Amino acid sequence: MTESHRVLSGIQPSGDLHLGNYFGMMKPAIELQQDYECFYFIADFHALTQLPKPSDLRQRVSNVALDFLACGLDPERTIFFRQSDVPEVTELTWILNCLTPIGLLERCHSYKDKLARGLTPNHGLFSYPVLMAADILIYNSTLVPVGRDQKQHLEVARDLAQRFNHHYGDTLVVPEARIRDEVAVVPGTDGQKMSKSYNNTIPLFGNEKAIRKAFMKIVTDSTPLEAPKDPESCNVFALYSLFASEEEIEELRNKYEAGGMGYGTAKQMLFEKYWDYFEPFRERRQLLLADPDRLEDILQKGAEKARQKARNTLEKVKATVGLTG
Ligand code: ADP
Ligand code: TRP
Repeated sequence: MTESHRVLSGIQPSGDLHLGNYFGMMKPAIELQQDYECFYFIADFHALTQLPKPSDLRQRVSNVALDFLACGLDPERTIFFRQSDVPEVTELTWILNCLTPIGLLERCHSYKDKLARGLTPNHGLFSYPVLMAADILIYNSTLVPVGRDQKQHLEVARDLAQRFNHHYGDTLVVPEARIRDEVAVVPGTDGQKMSKSYNNTIPLFGNEKAIRKAFMKIVTDSTPLEAPKDPESCNVFALYSLFASEEEIEELRNKYEAGGMGYGTAKQMLFEKYWDYFEPFRERRQLLLADPDRLEDILQKGAEKARQKARNTLEKVKATVGLTG
């Protein structure tokens, strides 16, 4: 990779992180650290659109921070921060609001889906994509790795940057989406997409017994123990493939196809793979958990660096629109 990019992504602190979040978002984000300057943040302003209990919000923000760092986010290399520690982003949001046609937001699927589910929307939910655009544009991000569900929001960000530049002259960098097509949707214990809204998640961290139980609950078909089984249609096999090496995957595939192995055995193998894979992450998490000042320090240092960049862009934008200068 020779191109230079500034990578940015955010994750909402809206519940316990699960294997879908890890393989779909966190792991690819952590890998990008090797090659690019990365900005990753915890989108607590966005989470506020759901009006969580204040103590829950606080707890979730700190859990997301712990989980991300435990899984390999390197704060020496990457700028990692809480969205709300950079209040400049809300100023840019306002300026972008004034360039945002209502119809653009009314067409957003995630907003429409929530309306269709009967939710009474607040204004924060409606203008969620404008805040997300400000997140992206304020750091002059060029590459934004997101899941498929965020593609349209990315288009809004590009659209708003272009509108701004068209109206006021070239000021904002138009970002590029990197849709993680290569990342398969991680199935949940019921075979649907793993998601906290479906109650089918396997958490990254927590009590060993409870996590083992979650693995044992994975739905399988009723092929008898001695019969050959189809690995391709099995949720246990799909999850195992995320953790295991090529050879281990091949080995399990052979066991499925040979028959004589029950799903219980496959689940046990999967659990052990998961447990070993997360072992170093659990250790790192324990150390961080025991040192809350260090965690806060990491987030504050990240915010300071992020704020410097944010201030630069905001100053330019304010001068461009005639608020200053
Ligand atoms: P949830 O569906 O549990 O509410 P979020 O929508 O908060 O999860 O997702 C946060 C990030 O994790 C997004 O980038 C999303 O694309 C990714 N993600 C969530 N679930 C999965 C999954 N089952 N497979 C792959 N990626 C996922
Ligand atoms: N909306 C994103 C999600 O729910 C989180 C997010 C907020 C984000 N701001 C962002 C992602 C900026 C990428 C860039 O997954």
